[in-house]
Amino acid sequence: MIYTIAFGKGGTGKTSSAAALVNYARMQGRSVLAIDADPQANFTYALKGNPASPGLFDILTDRAQAADVLQHTQQTDLISAGLNLAAGEQAIAGRPGRDFILRDALKDIRKKYDLIVIDTQPDLNTLLINALSASDAVLLPMQANSFSIMGLYQMQETISQVRRFCNPGLTVAGIVLTKYKPRQTLAQDMRESIVQQAQAMGTKVFDTYIRENVAVEQAQALQQSLFEYAGNSNAATDYRKLFAEMQI
Ligand SMILES: Nc1ncnc2c1ncn2[C@@H]1O[C@H](COP(=O)(O)OP(=O)(O)OP(=O)(O)O)[C@@H](O)[C@H]1O
Ligand SMILES: [Mg+2]
Repeated sequence: MIYTIAFGKGGTGKTSSAAALVNYARMQGRSVLAIDADPQANFTYALKGNPASPGLFDILTDRAQAADVLQHTQQTDLISAGLNLAAGEQAIAGRPGRDFILRDALKDIRKKYDLIVIDTQPDLNTLLINALSASDAVLLPMQANSFSIMGLYQMQETISQVRRFCNPGLTVAGIVLTKYKPRQTLAQDMRESIVQQAQAMGTKVFDTYIRENVAVEQAQALQQSLFEYAGNSNAATDYRKLFAEMQI
């Protein structure tokens, strides 16, 4: 199963959710590959990878095969991102088949893993299309605010384009609300409208939301699994509940 974690707006908890998914699946005894498709390399950092090593850039630009760039960190197997990934995106922009490079690159190694998790950046560009074209499902982490609702419309449009032209089998696992403040009335109201919006789009908002919790940022700063760093924290509790709800 290949999951892309995506949302067309910055800072919505994509990388945090992707890292939690990797760490959770590993705790369940699954073999997991993490792929960082964001030049910011936050996922690489959070999983204690090396952004300077060969990674996704080398795959996209035909410099290496996926198996050659695998990193084995304390937390997971990883195909890293580095700042050169932005240049890689531009390098492939005019190439025929540019949307399918990652899908093809994973053909040989995808069977080795129970789960592959791809973290993406907020731009709706070729890196994101590569991730979505290679995936079975997409998880959409978003915040319960009005700007995110605008991002949701754009995301939906991108997903339908990908389904039409690149990957008809792509499913939307659902929307997860992140950095959520359950006691805030505005957040509750926003949640209601996102639930309705999701229904209109033929998808759903997971019952489980991820509460705002500083442990997420602390674990990332220390490059540790959230579940090991603060297993009893609100965020760890919520992510466990979410992944159970998703039947990971
Ligand atoms: N549940 C949470 N509670 C508190 N802070 C959080 C939570 N989830 C994420 N954060 C923090 O919010 C910031 C943005 O989160 P994250 O990097 O996961 O978002 P992103 O969608 O990957 O961002 P980008 O679009 O830049 O890739 C980070 O500093 C992260 O530590
Ligand atoms: Mg990110």
